Amino acid sequence: MSKEAAQFVFMTCRAGAEGAVKEEVARSEPAWRLSFSRPGFLTFKHAGDRPLDDRQLAERHWTFAHAHGVSLGRVTGEKLEVLAADVWRHDAVAHLADEGGFADIHVWQPAQPTLVEADDEDLVTPLCQEIEAALRMAAPESCGKLRLMLSASKRPTRHNGRVLDIVVLSPGEWWIGSHRAVRRHERWSGGAIHVSLPPHAVSRAYAKMEEALAWSDLPLAAEDECVEIGCAPGGASQALLDRGLFVTGIDPADVDPSVLAHPRFRHLKKRGKDVRRKEFEGVRWLVADMNIAPEATLEETESIVQHPGLAIRGMVITLKFSDWKQAARLPELVARVRGWGYRDVRTRQLTTGGQEVCLIALRRKALRRVGTLSRKRRRRGRVENRTDTPHTSLPGPHY
Ligand SMILES: C[S@@+](CC[C@H](N)C(=O)[O-])C[C@H]1O[C@@H](n2cnc3c(N)ncnc32)[C@H](O)[C@@H]1O
Repeated sequence: MSKEAAQFVFMTCRAGAEGAVKEEVARSEPAWRLSFSRPGFLTFKHAGDRPLDDRQLAERHWTFAHAHGVSLGRVTGEKLEVLAADVWRHDAVAHLADEGGFADIHVWQPAQPTLVEADDEDLVTPLCQEIEAALRMAAPESCGKLRLMLSASKRPTRHNGRVLDIVVLSPGEWWIGSHRAVRRHERWSGGAIHVSLPPHAVSRAYAKMEEALAWSDLPLAAEDECVEIGCAPGGASQALLDRGLFVTGIDPADVDPSVLAHPRFRHLKKRGKDVRRKEFEGVRWLVADMNIAPEATLEETESIVQHPGLAIRGMVITLKFSDWKQAARLPELVARVRGWGYRDVRTRQLTTGGQEVCLIALRRKALRRVGTLSRKRRRRGRVENRTDTPHTSLPGPHY
């Protein structure tokens, strides 16, 4: 990649979250300068003398950026086929195409703000699919394989593959970038891991839970006990039930009858703080998805996880912001959760989420690995081999 081409970084985010992205970048990279900003899309000029290394960049994480990579410039025009040819003629793209080529093409439109959270759109719109098809057809000989491959929105890019990114700001303005598909979400267009919303799902929170689990690789196992505070109407609980977990849902609001009828689900029709601690004995995972301020969510959660005798191994907490300006408080919120003894805390604005952040907490980072090893062992047909000490006080699963 030419030195000049590798001086800019692009990021895409939920439209409206640009301020949160800028603040996060200012904290982690004070020398970077904002270069260009549109709803859901930003570029920053990187200040260093050396060009950006796309492998190192792929390891970086910004909570509010759905996707990021090296920004290579843009093409503008009216005809889709002409624009596609212009992309391949672009100096930086032609250079990368000759130097190792591209493993895949990701095309997406940044997430637009919606009035109702449940109406989130797909980042890969029909226009994006059309553009992707035109780019594949026009791919040069050095990237000939791209012509034979299916759309990248339908399957993940191979690990570590170099991706040609096209961020569609309008039908006639495409921004070009490139990244390495290292982390799970980097293997999908726009960082939107493909998750399903099955017909029986009672809310879109089903897809949100699926995305949270796919992104974080939390080692949940069938038969584990889980509590969800703020469970109504029950979409996220359904995703956990479908994975074979036992779920206690806590919410003063009504839960959908189909969820109530599930043999592994029980509903405590109360607010979190009114539930007796005894109900949390043996619970391994805690999910919190309440439509209250982030501090109030952590207040409720803290009173449970800090209770003597409970051993909550990991949590999936949704922190809802009534205003994106509240996002500036995220470092304090993360520090508070770490203070409870959770050493592995990660945050991401999920592509299926609204004006909020998903916080994942695990007691120890090693637990991530334990989960992966267990799955591998199970695939090989061995009995699951936990390396941590089982909790002696675990009661049997409830019904
Ligand atoms: C966004 S909805 C949850 C969606 C749900 N997770 C799903 O999968 O369908 C937020 C819920 O939080 C509940 N809630 C708000 N404050 C609560 C509290 N203190 N304790 C328990 N639930 C609470 C509300 O009643 C509401 O049903």
